[in-house]
Amino acid sequence: MSAPAEQPRSAKPSRPAPVAPAMDLEALIEDPATRIVVCCGAGGVGKTTTSAALALAAAEAGRTVVVLTIDPARRLAQSLGLEELDNEPRRVDVPEAPGELHAMMLDMKRTFDDIVVAHSTPDRARQILENPFYQSLSSSFSGTQEYMAMEKLGQLRASDQWDLIIVDTPPSRSALDFLDAPNKMGRFLDGTMIRLLAGSGRAGLKFASAGFMFFSKIISKILGGQLLRDISAFVAALDTMFGGFRERATATYELLRRPGTWFVVVATPEPDALREASYFVDRLSAEGMPLAGLVVNRTHPPATTLLSATRAEGAAERVIEADAEGADLAAAALRVHAERMIQAAREQHLADRFTSAHPEVAVRTVPAAAGDVHDLDGLRVMAEELTGPDDDTPTGTPRTRILPARRA
Ligand SMILES: Nc1ncnc2c1ncn2[C@@H]1O[C@H](COP(=O)(O)OP(=O)(O)OP(=O)(O)O)[C@@H](O)[C@H]1O
Ligand SMILES: [Mg+2]
Repeated sequence: MSAPAEQPRSAKPSRPAPVAPAMDLEALIEDPATRIVVCCGAGGVGKTTTSAALALAAAEAGRTVVVLTIDPARRLAQSLGLEELDNEPRRVDVPEAPGELHAMMLDMKRTFDDIVVAHSTPDRARQILENPFYQSLSSSFSGTQEYMAMEKLGQLRASDQWDLIIVDTPPSRSALDFLDAPNKMGRFLDGTMIRLLAGSGRAGLKFASAGFMFFSKIISKILGGQLLRDISAFVAALDTMFGGFRERATATYELLRRPGTWFVVVATPEPDALREASYFVDRLSAEGMPLAGLVVNRTHPPATTLLSATRAEGAAERVIEADAEGADLAAAALRVHAERMIQAAREQHLADRFTSAHPEVAVRTVPAAAGDVHDLDGLRVMAEELTGPDDDTPTGTPRTRILPARRA
């Protein structure tokens, strides 16, 4: 008797899976025209790891590359030779690489301080740097990290020392924060709001009516008079310092639109991360920013796709019933496989949903490694998953997918 024909678990007629275009990251990072790659995505999905792995692959392809990391996990930082925040790129020793890998960790406060020093007289700079309001702003304003990452990117690009700059983005709640920060920060520092609060400058004078003075007194009670005086002094110093943060922010933002810049959106095969990726993809397209594609990171492809979950479960039951030697072990292995198939199907379903909504977006899946990715060897494995050939996976499934596409 032959085995019964396999039935899909759901009774619904199966539609053919949407086919995502393949993302060729190898060609992208090897192309001399590629100058900036920005890795973005929701929190914890693997942006920093992806950035570092792509940078390693680029150095091994002969490019002089710098990766700007933000808050890398400690062990990863150590293996890149980044013992502490120092805000300058350090060369990473990659034996036999024809190119050069340099890595740096963003030091938000130092970057901010450097801008102040570069754009004012020594006296003014000291006043600002010592100002308590400046000190808290430069290390804690929400969006400061995103803004400073862009600022640093602008500096790295201007130095013209690098073939390729790979930018990791901060662990924001939303991937969009990175794109919104320069504008938000620019608006804030341009001072309309703080000028009003501080009652200094043109806007302040205009509102210095009795009503405003009353308002200002209340604010002063809430915020504390000292803070208000700090803000006031800070704004006054800023006023004479440079022609608007907003223009700087706009300039850095424009950098992201220039040819040679590519965005890589990273997500895990989970609803929240893919939803975030979806928003981000829409936003990039609205802004005319070039998207290389979506990395679906930490997927769980099964070791084989020849045995379905249903058949593996059925086989496990039969093995137990037969009660032969080693039955428990064999049944356990079959059940692990069944679980793995179900998980892969769930992940593939989520990825398919993304592709149905964004059929033009290229995709690359990257399987979860057994442990954390924290050294050059781990990064090399990840780099291979990101940039290696598309058609040589153990199960023969192309790397745009986790499971083979169901035939129509
Ligand atoms: N493919 C992978 N296989 C196994 N572990 C991975 C993989 N990708 C990333 N990781 C691990 O997941 C954790 C989070 O990765 P990473 O720090 O790169 O994420 P992130 O998006 O930069 O996070 P954050 O938003 O906090 O900055 C790290 O411990 C990393 O080693
Ligand atoms: Mg990170």
